[in-house]
Amino acid sequence: MRFNETIAVVTGAGSGIGEATAKQLAKEGARVILVGRTKSKLERVAQEINDTLKIPSAEVFAADVTDEEDVRDLANYVKDTYGDLHVLVNNAGGSSHNKILKLSIEDWDAVQNVNLRSVFLVSKLLGEVMVKGSQSNGVQNRSVVNVASLSGHKAGAQIPHYSAAKAAVINFTRALANEFSHYGIRANSVSPGFVETPLTEQGLQNDKFVDAIKRSTALKRVGRPEEISSVICFAASKEASYMTGSDLLADGGWLIV
Ligand SMILES: NC(=O)c1ccc[n+]([C@@H]2O[C@H](COP(=O)([O-])OP(=O)(O)OC[C@H]3O[C@@H](n4cnc5c(N)ncnc54)[C@H](OP(=O)(O)O)[C@@H]3O)[C@@H](O)[C@H]2O)c1
Repeated sequence: MRFNETIAVVTGAGSGIGEATAKQLAKEGARVILVGRTKSKLERVAQEINDTLKIPSAEVFAADVTDEEDVRDLANYVKDTYGDLHVLVNNAGGSSHNKILKLSIEDWDAVQNVNLRSVFLVSKLLGEVMVKGSQSNGVQNRSVVNVASLSGHKAGAQIPHYSAAKAAVINFTRALANEFSHYGIRANSVSPGFVETPLTEQGLQNDKFVDAIKRSTALKRVGRPEEISSVICFAASKEASYMTGSDLLADGGWLIV
């Protein structure tokens, strides 16, 4: 199994792409710490994971990844409990919708915080645990995967704040990959197109919106969370051992139509 003897943290693990990623990592042998703000959502996912295993491997840590103190507590917990971290998936994110001329500064800041500040904060504070692990336990597969978006490549309609933040996540990942390469830690981003999750649930109830997505997607359908988690897990695994600073676009062919 690709993630035996692997300690992994997945943010936003209580639903959607983060849930699918946590499940796949655990299925392939990882010990997974599920992070999000809503404990009950994380507990459901952890229960579903642990129900399928002989030895429970999922646990819950409730934290707001935009909050420095929460992220410090998470980093201290991982350090004190495991003394190392191998895989970090910065997946938590989300958006509101508005035009630039209507967008409030508060909404701008909130979207930057959850999509970009969080990636910086978690990469810095949990990255420290990964770096120390690498220095004291030697080079193993260690990898950060940041979930960006198709919108970071092509700005989406009425999501200017989100598009800007996700483009920044892609470039921040390159900076992180460069800096962490000194410690044998890789960093890549994954950019999903339209995927059926709670984030897109409302829009996907509108048939016209769904038809428009299908018309604009080469594969003529919306993606499933598992079709993104498989890419995230590839980037996290040693199968991608010579890949760092890359962005993996999984958009069903949106950009080629
Ligand atoms: N679905 C798509 O079409 C799509 C496309 C491109 C990119 N993405 C990206 O994929 C990632 C996952 O999104 P998803 O579609 O799976 O949506 P989702 O189901 O809404 O998942 C987002 C998760 O992030 C958690 N979260 C939000 N704010 C947080 C915070 N401040 N601290 C900790 N956790 C937080 C949420 O849980 P709590 O509210 O309980 O904290 C939620 O479980 C996001 O980065 C999103 O931007 C999604």
